[in-house]
Amino acid sequence: MTTDRVLREVAGDRGLHVGAMIGPEPLRTEPRHRRTLAEEFSAVTPGSALKMGPLRPSRDTYDLADADAIVDFGVEHDMYVRGHALVWHRQLPEWFQPWDYTDDQLREFLRDHVHTVAGRYHGRIDAWDVVNEAVADDGSLRETVWYDALGADYVADAFRWASEVSDADLYYNDYGCEALTEKADAVYDLLADLLDRDVPVDGVGLQLHALGDRPDPESIRENVERFRDLGLDVQITEMDVAFDREDVPEDPLAVQADYYREVAEVCLEAGCDALVVAGVSDANSWLRYFADFPENYTGDPLLFDERYRPKPAYDAVVEALAED
Ligand code: XIL
Repeated sequence: MTTDRVLREVAGDRGLHVGAMIGPEPLRTEPRHRRTLAEEFSAVTPGSALKMGPLRPSRDTYDLADADAIVDFGVEHDMYVRGHALVWHRQLPEWFQPWDYTDDQLREFLRDHVHTVAGRYHGRIDAWDVVNEAVADDGSLRETVWYDALGADYVADAFRWASEVSDADLYYNDYGCEALTEKADAVYDLLADLLDRDVPVDGVGLQLHALGDRPDPESIRENVERFRDLGLDVQITEMDVAFDREDVPEDPLAVQADYYREVAEVCLEAGCDALVVAGVSDANSWLRYFADFPENYTGDPLLFDERYRPKPAYDAVVEALAED
């Protein structure tokens, strides 16, 4: 079945936000990027602009220009805006040396950061990734600067602080916990415990960077269902589908399209409320410039090609979402 309706429309009819994680640069400089984002997507997330490093060029200043550009674009185009991320252990400011602070000062510093940023976007951001990637690959709490100084309860504290200043839905976001993995069990236990203690968590974000490995859709479905049974909303937050350069299938675009289709079906059937991909076009993919990735993975993981033409993956998602 084919349809001439755009992604944003077919997703909207099914009650699903379909979004892209983006940077400020292509938004400002590429009209095609701007147009495709506005016409095809109903949700937007700044990829880095709301992280502590990019936001805070010095100890006492916030530079909100990039974050504002993306959030304002989303609001103006009637999009669902995801904020990413209030508390993370990476992309911290270069001037930030944890050893300059006592543990109590770090706690105050983080609380102030969460209050300032979540407060600044009150009413404009619909969902926040409050804590990103707090669970290590073995299921233990990751030993980050925040864990080290504030203890395990920094996760609960961050959600409480965010809820003091924000009316957004508050998410825990992570990778490697899309299907029923050991790490997913650990994330499940962490969130179940937070909910038991009345910590204000509304949802879980599953990143779904399918790099080489593609988590089994059936297993994703079961996992989404158990999070939903806890009372949490579930969103796919950073999806991309790339191949190990040593192991590229014969028809990579078809394999990619099939996987996007299966995930879109799972989203509908298991009741996810957003499917966000990690960029608008392949030209914007983080795999093309992030650390070691360009050597490891193919750099065309998204729904639109470098020239913003829809790929088979785009058609597959539209078909999966279009009502028959
Ligand atoms: C990535 C950004 O897309 C890049 O621009 C940046 O250089 C590194 O971070 N998990 C996350 C995202 O939660 O914030 C990361 O985004 C990708 C992995």
